[in-house]
Order: sequence, then structure tokens, then C-alpha cells
Amino acid sequence: MSDITVKDKVFTEFISKKEMNLIVTSLAKKVETVFKDKNPIFIVMLNGAFVFASDFLRSLERPYETLFVRYSSYSGMQTTGNVVTSEIPEVVKGRHIVILEDIVDSGLTMDVFKKNLTKMRPESITLVALLSKPSARKVNVSIDFIGKEIGDKFVVGYGLDYDGVGRNLPAIYVLKE
Ligand code: IMP
Repeated sequence: MSDITVKDKVFTEFISKKEMNLIVTSLAKKVETVFKDKNPIFIVMLNGAFVFASDFLRSLERPYETLFVRYSSYSGMQTTGNVVTSEIPEVVKGRHIVILEDIVDSGLTMDVFKKNLTKMRPESITLVALLSKPSARKVNVSIDFIGKEIGDKFVVGYGLDYDGVGRNLPAIYVLKE
């Protein structure tokens, strides 16, 4: 297993590029089986989900609509508890919405986003999370499709950053204690 330094911290490989590919293509297949006849809109949670969404969406066989919103609650290696939000487009009204999120940690970001999305009256809301840290949860969030559950550990790569750095790494790396 290879180590990598991101800013002032050392990380070690945790989920390989090959495993990420298997996780994402299998998630995409499951979700498309359920939604292919429902004309869903996919909402990508920026910034962290941009790599996941890019691979996930390109694994789908049919053409779909995609929207992007920017929600953030993290600073450095911690959730701040203060979720910064962007506007949700009106087109979600009456539509089946599939949210693509990189990782659910405390759950605060998804809790706020789902509540804001519900106010826009979509037909349904489905949450797809590449990673989930169930032991870090501060609020209960129901996730419909999970790529992989991990412990309460800080990870970088595949879209996830440490203080703005490391999103480009093709595998997931975990902080070395
Ligand atoms: P939550 O609001 O605590 O659930 O955090 C959600 C957001 O924090 C995610 O969408 C990520 O962008 C970021 N995040 C959570 N855990 C990590 C991590 O281990 N590494 C990098 N970013 C993380």
C-alpha cells in the first residue's frame, strides 16, 4: 500500500482505483434499473461529488438531465455544523430527483439539502452516497443507495479534499494516525 503526503498530513491507500470503479459502476447499474422509465433528474453535490458523478453518470446507458448545486459544511478536516447552500432550480418540481453525494459524515449537509429540496415539491427524492460514515452521524439521514460504509476516518481523493488539496487522486486515501 502506498503512502501519500497531502499538505502536512500523511495518508495511505484505502480504496483502490479499481475498487472505486467497481463500486461506482455497480451503483449506477442498480440506480438505473430502478429509474430508467421515470425520467429522473440527477443532482450533483459540488464540490466533492464531481469525480463520483462524472464516472457514475457516464456509466448510465440512457440520456438524463443533470443539475449541480453547491453545499458545504467542511473546513479542513472537520464539519463546521454550518451548511452553506446554493439555490435549487425550480425545474425539480414534480420530478423524481436522484441526489449524487460523495460522502455522508455527520449528515448535516444532506439533512439541510433534503429539507430545502422537499420545499420545492419534487415527486420523489432518492439519495445515492458513494461513501457513508454511520458512526459519525449527528442527525439521522436515510440513504437509498450506498457505495461503501467506512469508519469515522478522514479520507481524501476521488473528489474529496483535505483543505482544498487531493481531489484529483484516483483512489481513496485514509489519514495515517
Ligand atoms: P456532513 O455534513 O458532515 O455529512 O459532511 C458532508 C460533506 O463534508 C461531504 O459532502 C464532504 O464534502 C465533506 N466530508 C465529510 N467527510 C469527509 C472526509 O473524510 N474527507 C473529505 N471531506 C469530507
